Amino acid sequence: MIIVTGGAGFIGANFVLDWLRDCDEPIVNVDNLTYAGNAETLAPLAGDPRHIFSQVDICDRAAIDALFVTYRPHAILHFAAESHVDRSINGPAEFVQTNVVGTFTLLEAARAYWNGLAGDEKAAFRFLHVSTDEVFGSLNPTDPAFNEHTAYAPNSPYSASKAASDHFVRAYHHTYGLPTLTTNCSNNYGPYQFPEKLIPLTIINAIGGKKLPVYGDGKNVRDWLYVTDHCAAIRTVLQKGVPGETYNIGGWNEQANIDVVHTLCRTLDELRPSASGTAYAAQIEFVKDRPGHDRRYAIDATRIERELGWRPAETFETGIRKTVLWYLEHPEWVAGVTSGSYRHWMETHYAGTV
Ligand code: NAD
Ligand code: DAU
Repeated sequence: MIIVTGGAGFIGANFVLDWLRDCDEPIVNVDNLTYAGNAETLAPLAGDPRHIFSQVDICDRAAIDALFVTYRPHAILHFAAESHVDRSINGPAEFVQTNVVGTFTLLEAARAYWNGLAGDEKAAFRFLHVSTDEVFGSLNPTDPAFNEHTAYAPNSPYSASKAASDHFVRAYHHTYGLPTLTTNCSNNYGPYQFPEKLIPLTIINAIGGKKLPVYGDGKNVRDWLYVTDHCAAIRTVLQKGVPGETYNIGGWNEQANIDVVHTLCRTLDELRPSASGTAYAAQIEFVKDRPGHDRRYAIDATRIERELGWRPAETFETGIRKTVLWYLEHPEWVAGVTSGSYRHWMETHYAGTV
């Protein structure tokens, strides 16, 4: 039995679905279903006794303690977070609460539970913390990629809150000996990603005939990894990672945002040409830049490849094609998440510019 937090979100849900496709070990899925959590994503698991969904806030210590006592997991994999940089700029408080206080609460609950274990059970327990490359800050064009020794320099309220949570995880290993593992991954894309993020937003706006907003000059660079590759990397770290260590995860795939948007437009031109026959790229609109927008992220994934034997299976070309096809084939999922609060976010954040 493992506990997963945030398993109704983009990466957490992909992780849960992949895990239960490949093995029979049950999962307790702890998620309080914020705007980014979607029970619909987990519909394929309805009635599956291996999936126990618990709608609980990770800041609720008593509820988390009860889950540890009831299910006696051998690991907790912590995905739950507020994850969108733009929202952290508009309202950072929620990010401090969930990402910092929530992680601290889980660490305290895990420490109490782990202290009560003995022998093999105690030695085998793991707290795996899912983090981001954004904690390392921004790179210049010729800087080497982030590795596990790169100094932290978070620039947004989101990345500062994730950095703080990483530091707590590190301290709980160093001070209390809690067997922690931390992963720092680059930008994920794939099925079930909430369409506030660049790739699903571009796909959905394109086929909806709307503008495709690109911040600033569009030359900010991100490293992109297909989500199931990230999930496989996390399983690998859980199995083989050394407690107390951190592992960078990336796709060796740096792309400027404008190139990503053009790739999506070309893929859509082929798979779902616009009714008017106009290329989707005509819908691109450069808009006001994100405040404090990090210029470049790049991941050196040598360590996880060499020490643990993980490598990404998808290329950007295969991953993007799968992603575009998935969004085209799942209009009902898209409709379910693009109503109400999503429309409000789009109207206020882009303020009529797209
Ligand atoms: P997401 O926003 O899609 O999902 C977050 C999930 O956490 C949602 O289901 C939400 O309901 C849940 N949640 C939020 N606050 C909670 C709380 N207080 N209690 C319980 N559940 C709560 O996020 P994602 O993109 O799937 O990211 C998952 C993790 O991976 C995050 O920790 C993020 O920092 C990290 N990460 C994301 C990326 C990426 O590109 N998306 C890359 C690297 C690391
Ligand atoms: O690097 C890992 C991080 O990747 C994760 O930790 C975050 O949780 C995840 O949200 C993601 O952060 P980004 O800010 O990089 O992702 P986003 O999809 O919001 O933006 C990707 C790039 O595209 C970024 O440079 C901003 C730009 N962008 C984004 C949006 C939403 C645009 O140009 N236009 C947009 O409308």
